[in-house]
Amino acid sequence: LFLILVEKTNNFCAEIEVNPDKSLTHRAFLISLLTKDQNFKIVNFSNAKDCLTSLKAIQKLGCKVKIFEKNKILIQSPTTLNSNIEIDCENSGTTARLLIGILSSVEVEKGAKFVLKGDKSLLQRPMKRVIEPLELMGAKILHNNFTLPVEITPQKLYQIEYKSKIASAQVKSAILFAGLNCQNKNTPTIFNEPFQSRNHTENLLKLFNAKIETQNLKTSLFPSNLEAKEVEIEGDFSSAAFFISAAILCQNSSLIIKNVNLNPTRTMFLEILKKMGAKIEIKNTNCKNFEPFGDLFIESSDLKAIEIEPSLVPALIDELPILGLVFSQADGVSVVKGAEELKYKESNRILAICENLKKLGAKIEPTHDGFIVAGKTKLKGNVVLQGFNDHRILMTNFISGLICEKPIKIKDFEWVDISFPNFLKISKNIFNYSII
Ligand code: S3P
Repeated sequence: LFLILVEKTNNFCAEIEVNPDKSLTHRAFLISLLTKDQNFKIVNFSNAKDCLTSLKAIQKLGCKVKIFEKNKILIQSPTTLNSNIEIDCENSGTTARLLIGILSSVEVEKGAKFVLKGDKSLLQRPMKRVIEPLELMGAKILHNNFTLPVEITPQKLYQIEYKSKIASAQVKSAILFAGLNCQNKNTPTIFNEPFQSRNHTENLLKLFNAKIETQNLKTSLFPSNLEAKEVEIEGDFSSAAFFISAAILCQNSSLIIKNVNLNPTRTMFLEILKKMGAKIEIKNTNCKNFEPFGDLFIESSDLKAIEIEPSLVPALIDELPILGLVFSQADGVSVVKGAEELKYKESNRILAICENLKKLGAKIEPTHDGFIVAGKTKLKGNVVLQGFNDHRILMTNFISGLICEKPIKIKDFEWVDISFPNFLKISKNIFNYSII
């Protein structure tokens, strides 16, 4: 639909800000389904397509919203949610999984139901990971072999202590949100995860005065009435990752990215890059709503290879596509292990990363749970790359084009809007590309 041409780019020096964090925006929208009759303001919310899916969902469920000064939104939650409705979660796994948790336990009239559906990609994504623990809590969910569409009949749930086999923030969030409304006020819902996944939900629940406690990989939450507060959201680290990589890989370049959320459960990509030899500095750090943020100063760097162990994967899960490209420009053999989850994202990202980088001339091989890359390889270009209808694959393709010998074409670039609608606008003054 939307074809772009990306050409080699060197010698840039720029200062940018990326869009507000997508994960936090979803959570700030969806938590309004649980704040009964209160209103709160979100300052700097993301208008990524995925987040607008969550926004439409809360509106359909009865929340009133008012957008003002372009980046602020006031949300007024109803006393009781609208029920017997169908919600389209479109392409958004976060909307679907968090809503399954929230709607399983909300108080609505007896027998009322909610149906959740999604687009072609979302219909194929696994929901067993949330349905199974919620059923253990007493949830009533009809499903299509553990995929969408699902029909939820809300129930008063029971607390469980759950040991999750996968480190997934979406699963953790669904169970915690459901746990807010459980039967026995003095018993916690306990969620154990194998490795630390992003903790934005825990931070937001803490901000809204929920009784929540985290010890290492164990989170305990008592049923709580939430007290809504103003939420301010900083730049999306996963969006910044594409620009960080461009600044490192393009020659003789430097970049400042202001006000990026630097929650340590998200920023393993920075630690990895630094270990590989990247010149990155973090300055002007601060913290708001329990979420740290700061400015990033990045310069072109020579890199050496590294091996990524499974325990590091959750804190860099969304950066693995762009890390594949970075690996192709590092001296030596780099390996990612324990990233099987990549197969269940918006596309099978292990295959998508390998297919595209191979086409460009990189030495990369998929494994059952990651990939192996031998660098450093000159990328040829002069090819048309597929985006697999996956925003992070498309942005990885774009950054690849900046370091190829010859220009590349990228198809269906409109899918970038899922997480980063102003990606091309920000790129305009920095990179060589054109829309054809
Ligand atoms: C997300 C969690 C991650 C991530 C996704 C957003 C979230 O998924 O890949 O893009 O907002 O909770 P999992 O935690 O399920 O791996």
